[in-house]
Amino acid sequence: MPRPLRQRGAWSRLAEHYQHIRGRHLRELFADDPDRSARFTAQAAGIFLDYSKNRVTDETVQLLIELAGESGLRERIDAMFAGEKINSTEGRAVLHVALRAPRGERISADGIDVVPAVHEVLGRMAEFADRIRSGKWKGHTGQSIRNVVNIGIGGSDLGPVMAYEALRAYTDRNLVFRFVSNIDGTDFAEATRDLDPAETLFIVSSKTFTTLETMTNASTARDWVLESFGGDKSAIAKHFVAVSTNAEAVEEFGIDVMNMFGFWDWVGGRYSMDSAIGLSTMIAIGPEHFREMLDGFHAVDEHFRTAPFEQNLPVLLGLLTVWYTDFFGAQTQAVLPYDQYLKRFPAYLQQLTMESNGKHVTITGEQVDYATGPVYWGEPGTNGQHSFYQLIHQGTVLIPADFIGFLHSLNPIGPHHDLLTANVFAQSEALAFGKTAEEVRAEGTADELVAHRVFEGNRPSNTLLIDRLTPFALGTLVALYEHSVFTQGTIWSVNSFDQWGVELGKVLAKTVAGELSSEVEPELRHDSSTNALIRRYRAARR
Ligand code: F6P
Repeated sequence: MPRPLRQRGAWSRLAEHYQHIRGRHLRELFADDPDRSARFTAQAAGIFLDYSKNRVTDETVQLLIELAGESGLRERIDAMFAGEKINSTEGRAVLHVALRAPRGERISADGIDVVPAVHEVLGRMAEFADRIRSGKWKGHTGQSIRNVVNIGIGGSDLGPVMAYEALRAYTDRNLVFRFVSNIDGTDFAEATRDLDPAETLFIVSSKTFTTLETMTNASTARDWVLESFGGDKSAIAKHFVAVSTNAEAVEEFGIDVMNMFGFWDWVGGRYSMDSAIGLSTMIAIGPEHFREMLDGFHAVDEHFRTAPFEQNLPVLLGLLTVWYTDFFGAQTQAVLPYDQYLKRFPAYLQQLTMESNGKHVTITGEQVDYATGPVYWGEPGTNGQHSFYQLIHQGTVLIPADFIGFLHSLNPIGPHHDLLTANVFAQSEALAFGKTAEEVRAEGTADELVAHRVFEGNRPSNTLLIDRLTPFALGTLVALYEHSVFTQGTIWSVNSFDQWGVELGKVLAKTVAGELSSEVEPELRHDSSTNALIRRYRAARR
């Protein structure tokens, strides 16, 4: 077990070093070090990372790497890949890396090689995806499936919807894909209003098969299908499949376990998009492209496992996040993909990062005395530039940003891509170097406007450049952030793989739901605010 974070030698050295760095401007750092932009770069698996526009020197990076060493990062990476139960609060191994291991590789949980089982499920998924895509799978009335609706929430929704949007260029355009997650009936209603049940397949995706939102939406879907087929229950087998670890609950719901695709308790919900939870993705892009996506994940897994920390992309990204969170007091991290297809990527990352590292106690249960997981957020460029970038450029809080750009567009129309990419480079340049009062004045700006037009600069960012948004590239990008989260969690000594923080609200909602719908006036035992809100709602609905 590593020492508590504040007692690690590198932590104290970083705290001291921060005092020298905090007053230094990126303008100076670049001027003093002409080689900087070449040195502070790394690349792997088709991702080029330029991290030179960060408020770091060689010493900072060295100290951060020492911190990683003292935090036992190497040992913890090895423990994850060895199938040790590093998710100790749930007594589980953490083996999403096994989901993308090539056939023949050995990764064990509880002494059993799990890779053959992974490939067995992938094989069944491929067979099923091909039957849907070829039109061979028939619905209750003999029609082929044209609409696929994934019902799930959290990790059972965000991965599928993000991947579908990200890889839309590779999808079968004859099929319609919808994603229902919210318990708000509007989500289901709008997703299905123009669909014909005879041509619609529902994939009920839930690791536990107990999640209130998903089970409610799934039973609404079942009613919707049954209503259309005069209540004939045999229609269920043709229009529903399940993705879950809970065969009993799947059967109880009425889905034949033959139509169930399983995964394992060592796959966390937010790490599950390349398990059977990716069934909708595989139907959309086909098994070949899905395999390419898994290869992308695997390439970064291998890089993370073997590359020295100095060149290790996820380690570097994770350490930079720790640097800003704990020394500069940054509370958020912006992720700014300059590709419209990645419009759901920030939302996906929110669960990955914040459900993983939003923790206030260490893995052994002690209250932390330092900041942990920052808020991740973002929007695709260039839209964000015309809304919130103002605050990043001239506001009073420090927001480190990741810019994600591509060398080639999947839709190379006229000048669009050059203009898009020009904005990536221009934004990171403006954030880093800003514009001084002298420069503003030299432009002939009126005195009273000079202060308003000054850009302080010294706003840090990473630039990630990738050739083009292929399934492989998407896999690399997701794995990059997964392992960055792992790195951060290891430094902070938190368990990045449980999520107890979502429980309390779930439990309370069950009680409140009963009180809202009760025929007799319920005896309310909440605080006065909650009691009054419940009474107001009941009164309005009477
Ligand atoms: O929000 C809590 C959570 O457990 C997530 O971690 C998970 O991805 C989501 O709910 C959905 O869970 P399930 O797949 O079991 O329905």
